[in-house]
Amino acid sequence: MIIVGNFKSYLVRKGDAETVVKAAGKLKTKHKIILAPSFVHLGYISAKKHKVALAAQNLSIFEGGAHTGEVSADVILDSAAEYVIVGHSERRAGGETNSIVATKVCQALGSKLKVVLCVGEAERDSHATYLSFITEEITSALKGVKENDFKNIIIAYEPIWAIGKSASEAITTDDLEEMTLFIKKIVHENYGEKQAKAIKILYGGSVNAENVKSLMVPGLDGFLPGRASASKETLIALIEAIDS
Ligand code: PGA
Repeated sequence: MIIVGNFKSYLVRKGDAETVVKAAGKLKTKHKIILAPSFVHLGYISAKKHKVALAAQNLSIFEGGAHTGEVSADVILDSAAEYVIVGHSERRAGGETNSIVATKVCQALGSKLKVVLCVGEAERDSHATYLSFITEEITSALKGVKENDFKNIIIAYEPIWAIGKSASEAITTDDLEEMTLFIKKIVHENYGEKQAKAIKILYGGSVNAENVKSLMVPGLDGFLPGRASASKETLIALIEAIDS
């Protein structure tokens, strides 16, 4: 399984972020652990070379130059992060459109960063318009992606209604299985079989040690926990629960 831990803005002290990264690095696990501290902590932590992969939580649409406060893909790569989270719902809520997300995906891949692309509907309705919403989020983001780069994309399905809630409010097993297949189908229909096989799919939204086992559905490659990744106890408990 792939576990992408999104620390969001939970951790203030760099030492606390490093404690989680260090603890994850010491785990004897077959799972791929990718942790996403804040930009500032990222530079500090990666310099110390822990045994987990690192991700940034965002990147600039610009390549570099006169863009005050922006962090470009190349700067992220230089901080030894291999991955970047793109299009998280908390950023989309701040005005990040599908077109901005598409630009960021191209910037990231162009700089050889791997992309964790977040998609997810705010609510579900009986007419299933959320399915077209997800289709648009995925196809617009992947429009400029070259065939060879699909292996460098992880899609994280994160329904907004399930983020930051309790374990019992996460998605149901049946709904998650259906969405996983649906996402594979979107990629297959729009880009081809090879691409659909190459792409990885994660689920995010109130995943923790309590519910992770029940969310391990066929076709799903892993999880994107937020809150549960931001302390060493809850992150280790989550990873152990996967193997239990
Ligand atoms: P959560 O966050 O696990 O705290 O619900 C997931 C996310 O927003 O990435």
